[in-house]
Amino acid sequence: MVIGVLGAGTMGAGIAQLAAQNGHKVILVDKQEVQLKKAKDQLASILLKLIDKHKITSEKANEIQSAITYSTELSAFSSCGIIIEAILEQLDVKHSAFEQLEKVVSKECILASNTSSLSIASIGGALQKADRVLGIHFFNPAPLMPLVEVIPAVQTNVSFLEQAVSLMKSWDKTVVVCKDTPGFIVNRVARPFYGEALRIYEEGIADFATIDWAMTEIGGFKMGPFTLMDYIGNDVNYAVTTSIFEAFYYDPRFKPSFTQKRHSEAGFFGRKSGRGYFDYSEGAIIPTPVKDYVLGQQIVDRILAMLINEAYDAIFMQVATAEAVDLAMTKGVNYPKGLIQWSKEIGTKEILSRLEKLFADYGEDRYRPNPLLRKEVLH
Ligand code: NAI
Repeated sequence: MVIGVLGAGTMGAGIAQLAAQNGHKVILVDKQEVQLKKAKDQLASILLKLIDKHKITSEKANEIQSAITYSTELSAFSSCGIIIEAILEQLDVKHSAFEQLEKVVSKECILASNTSSLSIASIGGALQKADRVLGIHFFNPAPLMPLVEVIPAVQTNVSFLEQAVSLMKSWDKTVVVCKDTPGFIVNRVARPFYGEALRIYEEGIADFATIDWAMTEIGGFKMGPFTLMDYIGNDVNYAVTTSIFEAFYYDPRFKPSFTQKRHSEAGFFGRKSGRGYFDYSEGAIIPTPVKDYVLGQQIVDRILAMLINEAYDAIFMQVATAEAVDLAMTKGVNYPKGLIQWSKEIGTKEILSRLEKLFADYGEDRYRPNPLLRKEVLH
């Protein structure tokens, strides 16, 4: 099958590489010639590194490179069996792209979006034949991250969903199918990793370095929340949180934090701007955490209980199965364990009592325990 990729930025370039590595002919289209050139040059340098590391032969590298055709014209997509769109995250921009795509492809061509925050149903709204619209959500970098969330919209025909799932499996991806709801699985369930860490900081319980130390050293996470937010970019992470908060009709569980807003407003985006929660300039002093194991455990217990509550909510609201939620968090964001499995190891009764205490102490809806978690405890 010929694979079309629309948008040659960070994600599109990675998806095109992945498809070519898996033996497909790929058409990569971007409206900017300069982006296409950048994607082509970057691919050449990635492949050189892979040859150096003996991961691929130079013949294979040549094969991958010659499998990709670069174009600024949508008409180049005419022979594609699927188009994966990875352009600007704006509904009006995606709408007009999908409208135009439909004019050049066959009726059986799947039209997929890599959107992180828009609903697939809303993107499909631009199509005459919307039963072939789907979400195929990759993680960055697409060739390396194993997880793909596949999202059917209410309009999607199940046969197109099955085709997309088997295509992703043939690329050796771990596929989770989930409902077309804000943040899908990963970006929804992961919210408390950032939000509760920020809340703990705002209450003056611990500083950034101490919270990060607790979550890595005691919690076993690969990166602390503040280091991770500095990697993602506070502007980007704040925008995702805000869009999820709005999309959930302002459910207080997803309330964004002033601390992150102020950091974003101040241009403290993180690594890319040289300063975020931490200072990345030459010779900057690295803050030392307070290595208090009692405090550290309290921090981990609180954030983890909130993450687990969110995982139960995703299952309770039929976003995905328990297996899919655990797979998504371990393969999509490298959590040390699946949250449902973790809840069973700690004991669901213990998790529920942590949440009930938070709910009683604060009286905020944010801490309400999920009904499915309660049900698990009764079993
Ligand atoms: P990017 O800004 O790196 O690339 C976007 C590309 O689309 C640019 O090359 C731009 O020239 C091109 N473009 C914009 N409008 C176009 C149009 N109408 N026709 C053709 N090309 C057009 O963006 P990035 O980060 O690759 O994100 C793309 C999509 O993937 C977004 O929907 C984003 O939400 C989603 N996504 C991003 C992830 C990330 O970590 N960056 C992860 C998962 C999804």
